[in-house]
Amino acid sequence: MSPSGPPALPGKDFLSILDISTSHLLRLLEVAVRLKSERRLGERAPTAHALGGAHVALLFEKPSLRTRSTFEIGIRELGGHTLDLPREFAEGTREPLEDVARNLERWVKALVIRTYAHEKVQTFAGATGALKVINALSDAEHPCQALADMLTLMERWGDCKGRTLAYVGDGNNVATSLVHAAPQLGISVHVATPPSYELPATVVQEAMRSAQGGAQVRMFTDAREAAAGADAIYTDVWTSMGQEQEAKVRRRIFQPFQVNAALMSVARPDALFMHCLPAHRGEEVTADVFESASSVVFDQAENRLHTQKALLLMMLG
Ligand code: CP
Ligand code: NVA
Repeated sequence: MSPSGPPALPGKDFLSILDISTSHLLRLLEVAVRLKSERRLGERAPTAHALGGAHVALLFEKPSLRTRSTFEIGIRELGGHTLDLPREFAEGTREPLEDVARNLERWVKALVIRTYAHEKVQTFAGATGALKVINALSDAEHPCQALADMLTLMERWGDCKGRTLAYVGDGNNVATSLVHAAPQLGISVHVATPPSYELPATVVQEAMRSAQGGAQVRMFTDAREAAAGADAIYTDVWTSMGQEQEAKVRRRIFQPFQVNAALMSVARPDALFMHCLPAHRGEEVTADVFESASSVVFDQAENRLHTQKALLLMMLG
């Protein structure tokens, strides 16, 4: 990493992939590649003290393995410290969320927050002028996941222009951020969902505004049509956190959207299988596809660390 470091992101917060431009997204991915290779240097890495002892607060209202671990490790590896806040501070019952944010602003540089309503993330971001807010998953978006997914695809494909990624399953937070990000790398996205579980129309419209190289977003209700000739197939859980009471109904409705060997066989022979994890074998993906040589799910999980370190550097470094 050059002594001057990477360029700062233009906005205060990172609530959505749409908060950063295509050129910043591409730069962030380049920075992540550098950080990934420099990680072996440990304390001797040029960025080992980039955060200069700053504190970053973590507020998780929902469970997390990957996001929490990679933020904790990433902050430490950049020379920062974490402040772990109990989940009830995201409820706004003891004191208003705006006041929590205005307190945090006096102590920490940034807040990494995972919550249910996306509006809560926006409330924290809008409450102060200095506290930088990072969306670590809301019901609407999961932008940090999409950063890692894009790095994983670049590692496999190099130039991604002209590729097609099929997302099969629920039109949820992960699908939204994927559709925001992939067309910016020139990747077309085919989204197959059951009727009533589609992505909001605004997500597709917004994604198309920053699409590069003729990339398209197309919606399907048939998984095989979406997957035909695709370079990668991506899926996520059928029941996201907070929807547990719908699980039985969803298992029935989403059954035709399972990623199995038959579905993979209509994609390109070298097609990748992707999943943000956690995965439910036998539901959205069969065990054989999950464990196959096509599966890059643990590369995605590893890349959460490198891309979030790049994000922290460009926001706080
Ligand atoms: N993919 C992902 O965000 O995983 P966690 O829910 O474990 O953080
Ligand atoms: N869509 C899933 C993603 C988990 C990482 C959820 O919100 O539970």
